[in-house]
Amino acid sequence: MRTITVDLADRSYPILISNELLSEPQLRSFLAEKLSGKNLMVVADSNVAPLYLNQVCEFFQGCSAKKVVSAVFTAGEVNKTLGTVASLYQEFLDARLDRTSVICALGGGVTGDMVGFAAASYMRGVPFIQMPTSLMAFVDSSIGGKTGVDLPVGKNLVGAFHQPLAVVSDTSFLKTLPEREFRCGLAEVVKYAMIFDSSLLTWLEDVSASIMNRELELLTKMVETCSYWKARTVSEDEREKGGRALLNYGHTFGHAIEVLGEYSSLNHGEAVAIGMSMAADLSVELGMIEPEVRDRQERILERFGLPVRSGLPEEKTKEVLQKMFADKKVEGQQLRLVLLDALGHSLVVRGVDLGLIENAIRGRMGDGCP
Ligand code: GLY
Repeated sequence: MRTITVDLADRSYPILISNELLSEPQLRSFLAEKLSGKNLMVVADSNVAPLYLNQVCEFFQGCSAKKVVSAVFTAGEVNKTLGTVASLYQEFLDARLDRTSVICALGGGVTGDMVGFAAASYMRGVPFIQMPTSLMAFVDSSIGGKTGVDLPVGKNLVGAFHQPLAVVSDTSFLKTLPEREFRCGLAEVVKYAMIFDSSLLTWLEDVSASIMNRELELLTKMVETCSYWKARTVSEDEREKGGRALLNYGHTFGHAIEVLGEYSSLNHGEAVAIGMSMAADLSVELGMIEPEVRDRQERILERFGLPVRSGLPEEKTKEVLQKMFADKKVEGQQLRLVLLDALGHSLVVRGVDLGLIENAIRGRMGDGCP
């Protein structure tokens, strides 16, 4: 078991990673200390529950929890709403959860964000554990305490920072992840390589076929590397006043594309892959990187089966730009974009000419989606 710490003074917590984590005695004793005599509710969506909910509840039973109960909500980004959160509060009340209880979010990004937000707000905050099952959740959303839900006008517009007690990352869950979800998580992995770690990109290029075959040792190493970068970024800048904003590479473009598709045609990772392609084009256009850096990004995205064009008609270019202004990353009326200035290095750029941004969007409109 590898332990990576998110270092936030008295709110520090470990990310515990292994490909057979639930059988690790060290994990049991760590959790027994946190859960002894407490009530725990495990929440999963309707896709993950049939696969892992019983196994995980039994596991927690063996960690000295007083009572372990569960709740299930209907899977899908369209259900990441305040309405679903309200139904979770009712489940918490019915199970008589109070501030001494612990909630476990078992699932992908939607589950972690929404259940985390329910935990952040129920009775003004109860502790929770992140147990990711999707690659995107392993490498990104389960770490760092961002919780929230979507509004019809934009993603994650209501939320709270609420750090978990621990992130329990058993990479064997990745074996059953649907192919499209798996590929989408790889978009976030490529993101870390492009913004922070050129050697990660070289490694991904070398082992891409084995990653696509889901060789567990490699997936575990990949999750460890990304968790390290995420933990380091959050430890230095929990509230996104500086370096954490770099994690939004491709996301301001991507969120706009995702919202225009009404959260249905493209999923988050696909939208991020397209958004990174737009951001890399813009970086080239501004003379910040050589075209070869952008081309390497494009090749690895394509090798991972990710789209690099939006599939939206060119006429929607201005709408994408408008939607970008609904993003949380807007400051005043200025877009705050993350661009590359070298392979493995990024920075936040404000005040980029809107015509250039529009060109970068237009260049990636049209076909190319899976
Ligand atoms: N997913 C971006 C962040 O956690 O800041």
